[in-house]
Amino acid sequence: MVDARGGPAGHWRGVIEEYRQYLPVTEQTPVVTLLEGDTPLIPSQVIGPQLPGSIDLYFKYEGVNPTASFKDRGMTMAVSKAKEDGAQVTMCASTGNTSASAAAYSAIAGMQSVVLIPDGYVALGKLSQALAHGARVIQIAGNFDDCLSIVCEITDNYPVALVNSLNPYRLEGQKTAAFEVCNALGTPPDFHALPVGNAGNITAYWWGYKQYREAGKIDCLPRMLGFQAAGAAPMVRGEPVANPETIATAIRIGNPARWQEAAAAVEESGGLLRIVTDEEILVAYRKLGSSEGIFVEPASAAGVAGIIKLATEGFFGDEPTVVVCTLTGHGLKDPDRAVAMVEEPEKAPAQTETVVEMLGLAK
Ligand code: F0G
Repeated sequence: MVDARGGPAGHWRGVIEEYRQYLPVTEQTPVVTLLEGDTPLIPSQVIGPQLPGSIDLYFKYEGVNPTASFKDRGMTMAVSKAKEDGAQVTMCASTGNTSASAAAYSAIAGMQSVVLIPDGYVALGKLSQALAHGARVIQIAGNFDDCLSIVCEITDNYPVALVNSLNPYRLEGQKTAAFEVCNALGTPPDFHALPVGNAGNITAYWWGYKQYREAGKIDCLPRMLGFQAAGAAPMVRGEPVANPETIATAIRIGNPARWQEAAAAVEESGGLLRIVTDEEILVAYRKLGSSEGIFVEPASAAGVAGIIKLATEGFFGDEPTVVVCTLTGHGLKDPDRAVAMVEEPEKAPAQTETVVEMLGLAK
């Protein structure tokens, strides 16, 4: 039997239905959902135990959302509210994941999605998603920040719904990941680590944790840790970066839209913002894939790189400490990166003996 509000009865119904009492929706809001959320909180089996100190490390794996990134939590809200308002067209600037999600949710809502992306800097998996979901994709000869200013000008002046994280409904949806972390652990973690790009997600998690405390679901708050790539670290450096550069293209952003709110979240929580280099990101990326069995895109490894860095510096001390790190997007988003990490896949003729010999197998 199918529940009128989405999904087979008794199954997960997506973040709007599951967290309705914490979200600005009414009975009139049409629920546009792909049953996002309910992602696993995976205990680290290798990276965490190898860190100095006494760290219990968990990964909130957002790569298993319907479009394979955390954006779906926000997009179900943004597109539902846009539909409630009667919008027919959605628009966003994106480094890729927002566009994939906007395109998918707009498709099921029967709306046209328009996405502006920085030409040449969007990973192939993400571009293929936006195209598959029927978005009008315009590649701009500029970076994400250029795309976002064009989108803001257009959505301010024309009947087009903005679905970037400047839209508060996006963050309302994304905050539900913090609820799930608390539900899974029974308490909030001591620290919550995230990669920071446009600075919406770290802001959203902070809103979520604070709201859960106000609702009496938890009685303390985590310290928020944000990590930016060295070539795209405006918040750490304290000024916008005109030409951001990093292999983690998802967070290649020089002037984050949610800068103030994210800075406030970090400060209020007693957390910090730090830089991780592309090399550190790639080390964490490789480790996640090859030792934890979790495939992420490079930006998602930035939080893990940051945790490794802080733990190595002794930041967490020796007391038992629970750290949650959000893995924001799936590795299949950026297949070129994974392939570029190996020299050249080995080749062999279609002969068993040759393969046995190559593997050095003996009976
Ligand atoms: N990780 C991934 C995989 C992302 O796609 C993004 C942002 C972030 C982290 C950073 O999150 O912007 O809330 O601080 N991607 C946006 C996009 C900018 O267009 O897909 P944030």
